[in-house]
Amino acid sequence: MAAGLSLHDVSLQFGGVKVLSGVSFDVEPGSILGLVGPNGAGKTSLFNCISGHYRPTGGSITIDDTEVVGSAPSKLARLGLSRTFQHPALRLNATVLDNVLLGGHTRLPGGPVSWALGLPSTARAERDLRGEALAMLEGAGLGWAAHLPADELSHGLHKGIELWRALLSRPSLLLLDEPAAGLSHGEVDQLIASVRQIRDEHDITVVIVEHHMGLISALTDRVVVLDHGSKLMEGTAAQAQADPRVIEAYLGKDAADDAA
Ligand SMILES: Nc1ncnc2c1ncn2[C@@H]1O[C@H](COP(=O)(O)OP(=O)(O)OP(=O)(O)O)[C@@H](O)[C@H]1O
Ligand SMILES: [Mg+2]
Repeated sequence: MAAGLSLHDVSLQFGGVKVLSGVSFDVEPGSILGLVGPNGAGKTSLFNCISGHYRPTGGSITIDDTEVVGSAPSKLARLGLSRTFQHPALRLNATVLDNVLLGGHTRLPGGPVSWALGLPSTARAERDLRGEALAMLEGAGLGWAAHLPADELSHGLHKGIELWRALLSRPSLLLLDEPAAGLSHGEVDQLIASVRQIRDEHDITVVIVEHHMGLISALTDRVVVLDHGSKLMEGTAAQAQADPRVIEAYLGKDAADDAA
């Protein structure tokens, strides 16, 4: 079941520096929301607040009406949250398949002790998960890469591995931080198709941070624009791209005056 996400008055401060100020918005279950804004606007910091990596200084964040501020990332994973990172953290010596499998550990029965003991129930679940991860890679046309060390693959494929790894936990809420960064045109088109397919087949809510406006326009139902840690506006991608406040935030006041 796709999860709903609500942020109310979220603030984050490091020492005297305000990183987020009173950010509020809702994400409808099953929708794709784009979170955009210039470099340093606070997009990744907001993801870190949602995923439990940062604790907001104030405000509330709920996933399906459960307050999650103060929850550890592992608890949020059990609630159905999964994310990718702006800078992929892969185990480069491990195979592509083993990297993807890391995303499935929340679905294994028992805990680290039973995994270490190799109990039969755990071994069976692990085998099933491995089969599912392999099928996922094959479905994405990456079956040929499954048993190669991750460091033999391109940057584009590393981004792909992160996406499939995040999906193996069967999330109800997926946060993607700049999935298109550094990808070629062809790879971006493939990513757009993959995210559409994921949303349609997995009944999932997706929030995407991205500078690639083509991807944002193609994929999102709504966008939230952040600037200097505050919400500048919220609407469709077309409304955001035509909004003088957004043009000014990205390009400066002269560009906004020219566009008016
Ligand atoms: N742990 C931290 N300690 C101090 N300042 C931080 C920390 N994390 C983020 N910041 C600051 O918060 C601000 C927002 O950074 P953030 O990475 O969230 O921006 P962003 O919108 O993701 O930018 P980009 O598009 O470049 O990825 C920056 O000024 C950054 O230096
Ligand atoms: Mg960022």
